[in-house]
Amino acid sequence: MTLRNKRIVIVGGSSGIGLATAQSALAAGAHVMIVSSRQASIDRALAVLNGPVTGHTIDVLDKKTVTAFFDDLGEIDHLVYTAGEPLTVTPIIGMDISAAQDFFQVRYFGALTTISAAAPHLHPGGSITLTSGSARTRPGAGWSLGASISGAVTSLTKALAIELTPIRVNCVEPGIIRSPLWDAMTETDRHQMYEQQGATLPAGRIGEVTDVAQAFLYAMTQTFTTGTSIPVDGGAPLV
Ligand SMILES: NC(=O)c1ccc[n+]([C@@H]2O[C@H](COP(=O)([O-])OP(=O)(O)OC[C@H]3O[C@@H](n4cnc5c(N)ncnc54)[C@H](OP(=O)(O)O)[C@@H]3O)[C@@H](O)[C@H]2O)c1
Repeated sequence: MTLRNKRIVIVGGSSGIGLATAQSALAAGAHVMIVSSRQASIDRALAVLNGPVTGHTIDVLDKKTVTAFFDDLGEIDHLVYTAGEPLTVTPIIGMDISAAQDFFQVRYFGALTTISAAAPHLHPGGSITLTSGSARTRPGAGWSLGASISGAVTSLTKALAIELTPIRVNCVEPGIIRSPLWDAMTETDRHQMYEQQGATLPAGRIGEVTDVAQAFLYAMTQTFTTGTSIPVDGGAPLV
């Protein structure tokens, strides 16, 4: 399957992995709709995207607006979900449980809200691709939340691939990727983290958003792939 003239919604498409996926999908001839919660990030993204693309400012936690958006849109071919927030290392001892619950909101409950609203409008030959993370299989100390959220998304993927067939449902599991997700760190700390993490990986470097975008394009176009997770992690689980 090619993406030529396919209608693709990318929730989280204004930044990082979602933005790179939007760029790649446009280059492949798709019509792309990017969605995220802040108008400023939508405007920044539209300024760098070329081709048939529209931007929509929607908070995935606002079920009414999400539902109205998909109801207005008509049929779509593919849904990509990369919306997420930075997650800090959170040791279990002394964990703020209420903050821990909040971490599930955008990445997990936002995905549920979005899929619930979008699924009735997805073309039967189409697909949904979610975002998990390599913390699922190889969590570091303090990564219980990141591992749990990723595990929940990967399990959700499998359950929905059964429930929503013939729509295919997959997820991508990125390792550490250079993206604006880490912008809250100081430049020095961020650079150090990228260097140190990259040096431990068989790939010898951390990932780029374009590496992950390729996996999203594969998930959309490979019609024999469903209910699975696609790792893009530089070999992290091996070390
Ligand atoms: N980068 C990594 O190293 C890495 C590794 C493993 C997994 N991941 C996961 O991959 C996903 C994408 O990461 P990224 O690096 O591309 O992050 P990013 O550059 O920060 O992009 C996150 C996107 O989510 C949108 N978003 C946040 N809250 C939202 C909300 N309530 N409603 C709608 N959109 C919302 C943001 O736009 P607005 O601010 O405009 O809402 C932005 O477009 C995340 O789930 C992340 O946890 C990332």
